[in-house]
Amino acid sequence: MVRYYLSQEKIEEIREAADIIEIIGEYIPIKKAGKNYTGLCPFHSEKKPSFTVSPTKQLYHCFGCGASGNVITFVMKYETISFIEAVEMLAKKCGVKLGKKLAEGEDKIRQELLNANDFACKFFKKNLIQESGKRAISYLKKRGINPDTIDKFGIGYAPDGWDNLLLAAQKEGISKDILHSCGLVVENEKGGFYDSFRNRIIFTFHNSIGKKIGFAGRILGDEMPKYLNISETPLYKKRYFLYGLYQGKEEIRKMDTCLVVEGYTDLLALYQFGFKNTVAISGTSLTDEQAKLIRKYTRNIYISFDADKPGKEATLRGISIFIKNGLTPYIMALRKGKDPDEIVRKEGKEAFQKLITKAEHFIDFKLRFLLSKYDLNNSVEKAEVVKEMSRTIAEVKDLTERQIWLNTISKRLSVDESILVGYRKKTKSKEQFIPVVLSLKKICYDLVTLLAMKPERYEEVVGIFEEEQLLDDITKRILTYIGEKITEGKEIDVADVINLIEDGEERKRVSATVFNIKEDFDKDDFQKMLNQYIERIKAVKLREKWVKIKKEIQKKERNGEAVRALLQEQRKIASILKTLGGNFGSEERV
Ligand code: CTP
Ligand code: MN
Repeated sequence: MVRYYLSQEKIEEIREAADIIEIIGEYIPIKKAGKNYTGLCPFHSEKKPSFTVSPTKQLYHCFGCGASGNVITFVMKYETISFIEAVEMLAKKCGVKLGKKLAEGEDKIRQELLNANDFACKFFKKNLIQESGKRAISYLKKRGINPDTIDKFGIGYAPDGWDNLLLAAQKEGISKDILHSCGLVVENEKGGFYDSFRNRIIFTFHNSIGKKIGFAGRILGDEMPKYLNISETPLYKKRYFLYGLYQGKEEIRKMDTCLVVEGYTDLLALYQFGFKNTVAISGTSLTDEQAKLIRKYTRNIYISFDADKPGKEATLRGISIFIKNGLTPYIMALRKGKDPDEIVRKEGKEAFQKLITKAEHFIDFKLRFLLSKYDLNNSVEKAEVVKEMSRTIAEVKDLTERQIWLNTISKRLSVDESILVGYRKKTKSKEQFIPVVLSLKKICYDLVTLLAMKPERYEEVVGIFEEEQLLDDITKRILTYIGEKITEGKEIDVADVINLIEDGEERKRVSATVFNIKEDFDKDDFQKMLNQYIERIKAVKLREKWVKIKKEIQKKERNGEAVRALLQEQRKIASILKTLGGNFGSEERV
């Protein structure tokens, strides 16, 4: 829960003051196209603009990736910040005054933790340039890390000793509890505290808007552990963190590619050599959350993990995480025992660039990997390769691309494409077709969203739901929300209604539907749509009946008279279904 003092009225005030066209227009170029504005979507990479903003609805929707929402959610998503932070930003921009923060609010604690990290970062920086940091400075020099980078990435030095940071922070009024919550001090058995980092080079962790959320420390010599990372804190969650994202995100967007490396020093070296579109997963195995973070800026990934056994395993795992999240990984082939830091510093920028150019698409990579493991002349092993490849190809989201890969791989392995598709096309002797209808859930969501736009028809729509007994939890929640707003005499924000839909795919679909509704739809239009929905509900019920009859027929095993009657009823239903609005999409084999 957000403890900031923010009333619903305040939020509405901000939404009113912050015109969506103006605000989004400050972030990305959008052009007027009819009643709406369009531009290239900032949340996925595209060449033709499918990102649409409606001034009258005060909503945005991307017909490509399905991103949608209002002005606040746009800022949240674009800046990767919290709701509160987005509200604060917009309020400032539009001159809306916010209430005071509550004394014990989470937001205040977050602020305290951020302050403590800011202090620590300064402390580590100061110690790097002091006498005590001499060895650290020469270590960094030896590793080719220049002063610019040190500054930009917040690199510092934690001096030797047990309580240097602890004492300095306490002098500034930062409590040991706060330091502890930041992971900067550790508790001993006696309940005392000591510095987490002692005699280590410090790397600062920034979140994607540059707030300092954590630290890691590297030993100057060969002792173990080489790196020490702070434990997870309210600010730092390992699986959401990518080192270098803050410094690299603009370049990633611009280049529309992202290099992904393992280590902090790999990232720093690449950055210095001009490969600024890089992030480091920093020793964790790649997570879904990290893949999704990158996806905000690009879909094209160049994996450049170390050329050792763990690096190879991380690559294979990374490939499937990236694919699963809709990204396209290319894999760079680093020479044995090398990491990106060594390559770029010893062999130069061009050598590394060459590795990027020569990177393999993940399917080629996977095939080569399998062929090194299995012998195609052995039919059992070949089957293994075919199975693995068909699984990998199935993960390609784009249909055209998938078809091309099917074709290529079928030739390379000399197997039929149909085998690679995985026998999924079972042929049935008797084919029966029936129109596809929207599921009841979809209809419910459409209906309530429609209602959010015309709340004066509340009673009528509730009536339909009750009559047809259609209420699921989400629909109920939305109806309650709308009902409350009506009683309070308040405006209903369609974006809020859409946001109540938990299922992401459904949310996208409904948002697209809202965008396709005429701006000035009136009573008659509403009635027409309502009728259509009622027809659809009938269609769903008829279809259910049809399926039930089908099962009955199967049970009776072609048993004369009874089956004939059922078949007749079935045909009747099918023909009614076809006439009902006629607009239920394609026909499906049942
Ligand atoms: N790592 C870690 N803890 C360790 C070892 C490694 O968190 N004990 C993480 C660090 O983020 C490190 C990454 O894993 O950057 C890759 O580890 P490694 O390849 O061993 O280190 P390098 O990045 O090559 O570091 P250096 O060049 O300083 O040796
Ligand atoms: Mn290294």
